[in-house]
Amino acid sequence: MNAFEITAELYDNINGEQYSPYASFLETCFERFSKIKVKEVLDLGCGTGGITRLLAEKCFDLIGVDISADMLSVAQNKTKKGIDIRYICQDMRDLDLFGTVQAAYSSFDCLNYLNSNTELDKVFALLRNYIEKGGLLVFDVNTEYRYEKIFADNSFVYEFDDDMLVWQNQYSPSKKTCSFYLTLFSEENGVYYRSDEQQKQKFFPQKTIISLLEKNHFSLVGIYGSTDFTPLENSSEKMLFVTIAE
Ligand SMILES: C[S@@+](CC[C@H](N)C(=O)[O-])C[C@H]1O[C@@H](n2cnc3c(N)ncnc32)[C@H](O)[C@@H]1O
Repeated sequence: MNAFEITAELYDNINGEQYSPYASFLETCFERFSKIKVKEVLDLGCGTGGITRLLAEKCFDLIGVDISADMLSVAQNKTKKGIDIRYICQDMRDLDLFGTVQAAYSSFDCLNYLNSNTELDKVFALLRNYIEKGGLLVFDVNTEYRYEKIFADNSFVYEFDDDMLVWQNQYSPSKKTCSFYLTLFSEENGVYYRSDEQQKQKFFPQKTIISLLEKNHFSLVGIYGSTDFTPLENSSEKMLFVTIAE
């Protein structure tokens, strides 16, 4: 199976409740921190487009980029008639847009799918090319606490109508990488079909991210522990970065 085929099928069931607070957080960032008026927005790693659609419905012009055709297909199918979102199937490491935007965001740990500091540096450099001066880059990444204490080597089981998902994790503290093993059992006429997929994420320390942002001419507005702008704590699972393109 492709790396995000199972994920595409079940993603909204697992994460759907978090889309609305995240979209409100982004809208507040655009209003409060951008030095230019935000109209065109890039969603980098847009996935099934839950947040993309909410912002598009608020009259922003959205471009959704994602490497997974399965995730984009869900996104496209769920977009209401009359809402115009440009979806592009593209690897963020080779980001290539038609023009510039006033803001870009990357939600739900997309950047943790990059394999190295070099790749993160490249993605920030590409983003800087496409975000207009004074515009915003907002993103979240997983904290070390989340990898070490929550994902760790733990397993999670989700049960839906006809589906059961088993999600097993393996974290390597030396490599700072976390492998996710997803196994889906889907029932059809009394028979259960099994499918598997594997993904890998990397932890990026706050210091590394800040130095790569500075190198690529993004200045830091703040780092938050959640979408309600609470400060980072030792038990925060995400670091939300708000930055301005200089
Ligand atoms: C955890 S999902 C987040 C989806 C979406 N941002 C959201 O908030 O619901 C991670 C997404 O990152 C995408 N992704 C991973 N590596 C990528 C890459 N190199 N280029 C573009 N998208 C990538 C995956 O296909 C997946 O849709």
